[in-house]
Amino acid sequence: MERTLAIIKPDAVKRGLSGEILRQIEAKSFTVRGLKMLHLTRGQAERFYEVHKARPFFDSLCRYMSSGPVIVALLEGERAIERWRELMGATDPAKAAAGTLRKQFGANIEQNVVHGSDGPETAAREISFFFGELELAD
Ligand code: RTP
Ligand code: MG
Repeated sequence: MERTLAIIKPDAVKRGLSGEILRQIEAKSFTVRGLKMLHLTRGQAERFYEVHKARPFFDSLCRYMSSGPVIVALLEGERAIERWRELMGATDPAKAAAGTLRKQFGANIEQNVVHGSDGPETAAREISFFFGELELAD
């Protein structure tokens, strides 16, 4: 079993897509082990995305990610990291495969509705960024 971090980004929460996205996650046999809504401060968004600090889209990304509440979920399952990224689709919704969440709901390369960890080390860091031991189901 593997764990990964999913975020339903502010645009998706605002548009009322959270329930549908969680439904599709559960339909793909992920177990939701942790779940909460929170509104990131600008500083917290900058810390979360610090690997992208040098990228031209960093400022805009952090403004977007702190623009409204997000829902963070700890997902568990077989090959959860890779399978969650498959369900998300390519970063740019225009290039995402049919049936992926970004293809279905993404507005553009920035407002692309969901986040997923990109590897085991990132997943561990991102899970502990958002969840403490007491918040996680056994
Ligand atoms: P994520 O980290 O959110 O799961 O997305 P990802 O791995 O598919 O993409 P990544 O390269 O890590 O980029 C993080 C987020 O930054 C925004 N972005 N904007 N304007 C742009 O060219 C651009 N490129 C990326 C997106 O919100 C992307 O998900
Ligand atoms: Mg990424």
